[in-house]
Amino acid sequence: MTKTKAEKSKPTKSKSNDSKSNDAAKNHVQIFDTTLRDGEQSPGISLDAGEKLEIAEQLSRLGVDIIEAGFPVASQGDFEAVQAIAKVVTDSIICGLCRTSYADIDRCFEAIESAPKKRIHTFIATSESHMKHKLKMTREQVKTEASQAVSRARSYVDDVEFSPEDGSRSDFDFMCEVLQIAVDSGATVLNIPDTVGFGVPEEYGKTLTEIRNRIKGDYIISTHCHDDLGLTVANSLAGVMAGARQVECAINGIGERAGNAALEEVVMAINTRNDYFGDLSVNIKTDELLRTSRLVSQLTGYAVQHNKAVVGRNAFSHESGIHQHGVLNERTTYEIMDPKDIGQNTNLYLGKHSGRAAFANHIKEMGITITAEALNSAFKRFKDLADRKKVVTDADIEALVVEELADTGEYEFELVGLECGTGNGKEPTASIKIKTKGGEVLEASTTGGGMIDAVCQAIREATGIDGKLVDFSAVSVSAGEDAMAEVSMRLTTPEGIEISGRGLSIDVVEASAAAYLNAINKLSRTSLETFDPTDRPGHI
Ligand code: KIV
Ligand code: ZN
Repeated sequence: MTKTKAEKSKPTKSKSNDSKSNDAAKNHVQIFDTTLRDGEQSPGISLDAGEKLEIAEQLSRLGVDIIEAGFPVASQGDFEAVQAIAKVVTDSIICGLCRTSYADIDRCFEAIESAPKKRIHTFIATSESHMKHKLKMTREQVKTEASQAVSRARSYVDDVEFSPEDGSRSDFDFMCEVLQIAVDSGATVLNIPDTVGFGVPEEYGKTLTEIRNRIKGDYIISTHCHDDLGLTVANSLAGVMAGARQVECAINGIGERAGNAALEEVVMAINTRNDYFGDLSVNIKTDELLRTSRLVSQLTGYAVQHNKAVVGRNAFSHESGIHQHGVLNERTTYEIMDPKDIGQNTNLYLGKHSGRAAFANHIKEMGITITAEALNSAFKRFKDLADRKKVVTDADIEALVVEELADTGEYEFELVGLECGTGNGKEPTASIKIKTKGGEVLEASTTGGGMIDAVCQAIREATGIDGKLVDFSAVSVSAGEDAMAEVSMRLTTPEGIEISGRGLSIDVVEASAAAYLNAINKLSRTSLETFDPTDRPGHI
């Protein structure tokens, strides 16, 4: 029998019963999710603490081993979000990122301190380009920094990860020197970043093999790849074949520039091709993948492309007659994964005659936990929707509930009336009514270049808050002409503050008004200092 590549890459050892559990541990590939750190660094994404917590809880439910919750020294908001996650999420290891300065490391520990399982991830660049142009440090200085940082981090926690940033473009011998210093100073995980997405699979795999051969000590090796050449998942998997037992990835592949390895793709590749990957296993509850993808897409405003592997809308759609015929006869003719395995269930439809109990039961069956208060307002919105839409799908309900739960702040402005009109060559007009927290009703009527422009202008006039629309996207939540639209927008204020908002409605103009108000509500909310993670309406 021919051996799989994974078997070939493993040391040959006779198997006793005792060695079986060792093998299981050796073959477990840890999933390190960086949606909330590298993912959140994507242009235009700015999640507030409540939204980050919502995602962290879903990641924990998905079964990720490690959640990189943020970069605590980066801002007060980041610090507080990591702290909130550390207080609430107990199943996964909570990790914070920091540079090598003591101030960074101390702040990182302060943020993760209350997590039952915690990790500090410290990094410093080792490529000539980064050392010269960014750090302005010599090789010797970088070695000292790495050693001191890891020792400092180890004085706080037993689990310390070290990354030589821009690893794939670093001088290999020098990077190895730094990695050995990191292990000798107490690093337990060595992460090899392909920071700029420069690596190719075979080469990245060889680099990891060589590192494992050279660096002595007790550590796990990890991949962290970027998608600048579209190779991030291939590179990560090559790393796994070379012995990496941690993969850093993000939901929907979000991250700096072209993004990180998509968690769902890495996981489904390992599971689907176990003939190739041998005994390797991941802890992920794959039937939570689709929901996690939708949640991240909804909260970040980053739409998932229709043909995206695993979680795209078309991932299990068959257009050609020949394919449809094949799938109807036997699903596996054109499907290598069962859609149920990623959580794409046949929809149980609810309609306008469904009552509160049926709605509550449906939500429970979808695995969503929600408090009575949030359930009431989600039910009210469901009823409004069911009046306007023939069938309400799981995706619609999920979108409504997520919106209900994610909005943790108080409303400064609430939309109470909207009328729009155009036609007969007239300019589009919008009349808006907005209620303030104090009960005052603000009204304005304006014209605009288009309907959405007129609505935004009316909101500006009514509230007196100026915001320039810099990004706009609308996606439909489910299929069909009466599908709900989910609008995401990004605004910049005259002071240069960038803020994002999203809105959901069966009418795209209404969804746009809701998104605009959501953005300015965020702006006028009290500081994140008042954010209390235990005082939220509910969680998914
Ligand atoms: O891409 C990168 O190098 C990183 C490091 C901080 C790990 O994100
Ligand atoms: Zn990165």
